Amino acid sequence: MKKFFMTLMLALAPMTASAAGGAGVPLDSFEADLTNKASLQRGMQTFVNRCMGCHEAGFQRFERAAQDLGIPNELVEQYLIFDPETKIGSHMTNAMPKEVAAGWFGAPPPDLTLETRLRGSAWVYTYLRSFYTDESRPWGVNNAVFPDVGMPNVLEDLQGKVVNHCTPAELAHGGSAEIDPLTGETMGGCLTVSESGAQSPEEFDKTVYDLVNFMTYMGEPSRLESERLGTKVLIFLAILFVFAFALKKEYWKDVH
Ligand code: HEC
Repeated sequence: MKKFFMTLMLALAPMTASAAGGAGVPLDSFEADLTNKASLQRGMQTFVNRCMGCHEAGFQRFERAAQDLGIPNELVEQYLIFDPETKIGSHMTNAMPKEVAAGWFGAPPPDLTLETRLRGSAWVYTYLRSFYTDESRPWGVNNAVFPDVGMPNVLEDLQGKVVNHCTPAELAHGGSAEIDPLTGETMGGCLTVSESGAQSPEEFDKTVYDLVNFMTYMGEPSRLESERLGTKVLIFLAILFVFAFALKKEYWKDVH
């Protein structure tokens, strides 16, 4: 019986893995590194400057992020909070009314605090790198993992103009060629940078990596704390072991 269940689980494992990919589009791999404070700090800066005009992170406070990421409160107040009404203890919200935004974009920009939990970090990472020029869309861009998206490509000045060489069907399956990070090709060679932006493809990937790393932190703010606590608990157990062992020796020394 046990064997049967194990075989069943093994058989199902690949199915659950591909289900996470959504509409069949293969996602670029993404591994968060929440111990890389510099990356998280750069990500927060990009998030505040580039995303918070439209999106909120309504479950995240500036102060908690500053603390976790090791940024002094004064620096956050000076460089990352633009509204004089907003305090360091405030949530990371903006003043854009939802109904108005829905009118502008067709859909309101959703809150992004838990976005990486909802879609997965790899999805968000791929999404932000998969905008391409499509003049039939209101903002002149479309997206390979989110077809007919209502969001403009807000990072286009950094990435450059991207053209799509594939048919919609090929794009939906991520094209065929191997991905070469040096040429800035994504989605299996379907998308290439035609006019370069302010950053090289590698720099752009790093900017998006840092941004999604920060978004992953927002989705699981206590993971950093758990990892720190975990180390302390292990050190405590190691010290306790020394005493427990000495005590055991003491108890047993007269027993032969
Ligand atoms: C000009 C306004 C605007 C800016 C700036 C903006 N977005 Fe968006 N974003 C939108 C809108 C509108 C949608 C909803 C699109 C839809 O549902 O078609 C959206 C959707 C998204 C989604 C998909 C949400 C989902 O799961 O359905 C993600 C992820 C996202 N944005 C991330 C970002 C990030 C990261 C930034 C900063 C680099 C950013 N956005 C900047 C307007 C914006």
